[in-house]
Amino acid sequence: MTLLSLDKVSKSFGGVAAVRGVSLTVEAGEILGVMGPNGSGKTTLFNLISGALVPDSGEIQFLGGRTNGLPPHRICRRGLARTFQLVRPFLGLTVLENVLVGLGYGCRRLTGSAARNRAKELLSSVGLDGQSARPAHTLTVMDRKRLELARALGTSPKLLMLDEFMAGLTPVETGEAMKLIRALQNQGLTLILVEHIVWALLDLSQRIIVLSAGEKIAEGPPASIAKDPQVIEVYLGESATS
Ligand SMILES: Nc1ncnc2c1ncn2[C@@H]1O[C@H](COP(=O)(O)OP(=O)(O)OP(=O)(O)O)[C@@H](O)[C@H]1O
Ligand SMILES: [Mg+2]
Repeated sequence: MTLLSLDKVSKSFGGVAAVRGVSLTVEAGEILGVMGPNGSGKTTLFNLISGALVPDSGEIQFLGGRTNGLPPHRICRRGLARTFQLVRPFLGLTVLENVLVGLGYGCRRLTGSAARNRAKELLSSVGLDGQSARPAHTLTVMDRKRLELARALGTSPKLLMLDEFMAGLTPVETGEAMKLIRALQNQGLTLILVEHIVWALLDLSQRIIVLSAGEKIAEGPPASIAKDPQVIEVYLGESATS
């Protein structure tokens, strides 16, 4: 079943065509990887899908309905959540309160003790057991990422988009992040990952699309993407194949 489809979606900022005629689909249960050089339009693509930006042209369908022009909170309530390239917890709130915010917004909104219990479950599932009362500003980078993940999961998404979730992590933490992402897929979640850590993206994704200067230049299973001459030229470099 197709959860998300984009048909020739474009977005320019002044003279910069950030996303140019991109079409793609995301099937239920898969992890779709998105890679490409800095400035190739990956975050803009997430902003278009989540409703933070409105496409200049093209069509976006999520769960069978058109979402172009809907505000982000309406798209979120249909079951789409995302995390940000620069993590954005509410620093003045506790860990638990941050997740309660997510629970108040999604497609299965919870309040009161039901929300607190669900928040604790989510914190435990991302590895933040026992951290509920900590102010978010005291967390390490990895733990802020865990918190952002729990907050996004609090909206009960069917599709979760992670923008450079592994950036800034140590190799050990990257391994932990990969385990978390696999566990989410095993629970039935569909994911789109934007990552510069190529080996992790190749390992996690069933399918990859590659953007260059806003255009989709390749699409396919990780093994064929890693060997694609155009992808090697614009992004991977020779080292990826040797
Ligand atoms: N709000 C904006 N206003 C003007 N230009 C923007 C805006 N957002 C993105 N751009 C431009 O659009 C292009 C694509 O940017 P985008 O952030 O989508 O790239 P990216 O692939 O996510 O890059 P990175 O890997 O560095 O995160 C860039 O040229 C960027 O400068
Ligand atoms: Mg980006």
